Amino acid sequence: MRRFEGKVVAVTGGASGIGEATARRCGAEGARVAIADRDGERGEWVAVDLQGQGVEALFVPAQMEREEAAADFVRRTVDRFGRLDVLVNNAGIRLYQTVVEASAESWDTILAVNVKGYAFCAKAAIPVMGQNGGGSIVNVASIRAVTAGGNMTQYDTSKAAVAGLTRGLAMDHAMEGIRVNAVCPGPIFTRFHENRAREAGKTPDEFKKTFAGGVMLQRPGTPEEVAACILFLASDDASFVTGTCLFVDGGITAASSTP
Ligand SMILES: NC(=O)c1ccc[n+]([C@@H]2O[C@H](COP(=O)([O-])OP(=O)(O)OC[C@H]3O[C@@H](n4cnc5c(N)ncnc54)[C@H](O)[C@@H]3O)[C@@H](O)[C@H]2O)c1
Repeated sequence: MRRFEGKVVAVTGGASGIGEATARRCGAEGARVAIADRDGERGEWVAVDLQGQGVEALFVPAQMEREEAAADFVRRTVDRFGRLDVLVNNAGIRLYQTVVEASAESWDTILAVNVKGYAFCAKAAIPVMGQNGGGSIVNVASIRAVTAGGNMTQYDTSKAAVAGLTRGLAMDHAMEGIRVNAVCPGPIFTRFHENRAREAGKTPDEFKKTFAGGVMLQRPGTPEEVAACILFLASDDASFVTGTCLFVDGGITAASSTP
């Protein structure tokens, strides 16, 4: 399947995890791919690796919470590839603390990266997509948009805001031919969790058992499984889908924890 032949896809946070898997799958399906990430070394490595596989790829080092960086990312993508068809807003951070422990600065940080960064990128991308007659934006939210994680209220709040941002953008830009959707991943095992397992003195398999607690399918998901759903929403297969959130969570949100 090569649904993105001739298309240009921009992915934020594309240096690892879900963003990297999305960039790789888009490349495999024919897209030219631009990646932005604050991790310059790994982002460059992913772009070079994609190029080695015959994919036209660009890496732009960027802190996505800065409006100028978001605008620069979109500008450099269009300078290089001449258009932009798909934006995947994915760069996100997690903070583990209660509201009582949280500082004003930590609120600013998480909302800047997880919410404003997505909005800034959309702001830069929408006029360019409009010039091509349309496009598609996929925001990576989380099951935390509708459920509480525990000790993560700032993250939960930011992801609920992403769901709201998704609906608002979808409404405001439908007439320009731009569809805007979100994926809400459940527990997805990435390098970040490998590190957390190591820090907790657990093997990856031990960590996965706890991490996947409550998942109907009895395991965490993979970045590739989320990427598959992002590509569906980004592609013409989802041509009548906009303003929605697709849960990619092994059933954890639908499951009731009470007997
Ligand atoms: N892994 C999960 O279980 C899970 C579940 C639900 C939602 N998510 C969401 O998926 C998205 C990707 O997460 P992941 O699990 O793949 O994590 P990850 O840490 O593997 O990847 C995130 C990438 O974003 C980059 N990044 C972070 N802040 C940035 C910034 N300010 N500017 C530029 N780049 C930045 C990081 O360098 C990293 O490469 C996030 O929005 C996260 O909230 C993840």
